[in-house]
Amino acid sequence: MRIACFSTKDWVRRSFDRANKGGAHEITYLEAGLDDTTASLSEGHEAVCAFVNDTVDAEVLQELADRGVTCVALRCAGFNNVDVQKAHDLGITVVRVPAYSPHAVAEHALGMMLTLNRRYHRAFNRIREQNFSLEGLLGFDVHGKTVGVIGTGKIGRVFCELVRGFGCRILAYDKYPDAELGDAGVEYVDLEPLYRASDIISLHCPLTHETHHMIDGEAIGSMKEGVMILNTSRGALVDTAAVIDGLKTGAIGYLGLDVYEEEEDLFFEDLSDQVIQDDTFVRLQTFPNVLITAHQAFFTREAINNIAEVTLGNLAEVETGGKPSNLVSPDMVASS
Ligand code: NAI
Repeated sequence: MRIACFSTKDWVRRSFDRANKGGAHEITYLEAGLDDTTASLSEGHEAVCAFVNDTVDAEVLQELADRGVTCVALRCAGFNNVDVQKAHDLGITVVRVPAYSPHAVAEHALGMMLTLNRRYHRAFNRIREQNFSLEGLLGFDVHGKTVGVIGTGKIGRVFCELVRGFGCRILAYDKYPDAELGDAGVEYVDLEPLYRASDIISLHCPLTHETHHMIDGEAIGSMKEGVMILNTSRGALVDTAAVIDGLKTGAIGYLGLDVYEEEEDLFFEDLSDQVIQDDTFVRLQTFPNVLITAHQAFFTREAINNIAEVTLGNLAEVETGGKPSNLVSPDMVASS
């Protein structure tokens, strides 16, 4: 297949070249992100390969269809950036990589939890300046704490297994509870009791109409004073203005974000020479108890190799006809 691969970085090119055994596919690597201003670059390709922050809305899909694109291959799990119904109506097949390494994301969430608690980031900087004071580095034992996990799919499940190793009580909320996790001691409860009882809350559910801004002022108001919130899922699960208020009052004691609701204009790029225009993001960075990473939770060798292999496998399936195993269909949007 001729594939236009948008938002290409060096590591994308390397992993896809490695996975494209025998040059089975003809891949055009494009640095540009996909949106209405760049969709025309798909001319001459049957497929487009897109990433998390590419825009695949109705307008872009129409442009892709007009240029002969018949498949959008997402090299990520989430598909909230795609108008799946419009793609279906235009006869464009959408495929994704449902799981590339749940361990990568769950382990990153755990790393954020430990860093926020024990302040490794601050200790690292201090030691380099020969400041060996412990003032301000006081943490807490994770052992014995209550951890609330929202969404216990592939990543949430691994996160539960990891924190269980610390001797935590685990409360979970999911629209479809996992009986096996329940048998293993994870307590499924509604959101309200989870908010009330958890010392640490980690988000692992997809972004849908239902989950958009689920962490808002009201939710924060019902949480334990000084709660730790971790979001490695999708930025818009969290109402950023509300968490800033919560950080200012101390209602939130620690915040770990690998995703941000307006990250499209920031993440994955080196903007170190530029003035950031997003005042909300800049405000977030001023808190000593906020740790932000730029959507890197997935970024392990294992995960990026899986992404490339599964994406090219998806495209090979589409090329040979029949129903692809990793199809994204409109009913998945309706039921999510
Ligand atoms: P998954 O589909 O295996 O699990 C999602 C779980 O959320 C399911 O158990 C589902 O029942 C549950 N869920 C759906 N709606 C819900 C709701 N309204 N309330 C509570 N639970 C709900 O997905 P997976 O692989 O575990 O990924 C979770 C999320 O992590 C993805 O949707 C994606 O947004 C994010 N992600 C982030 C990455 C990163 O690098 N930061 C990388 C990969 C995924």
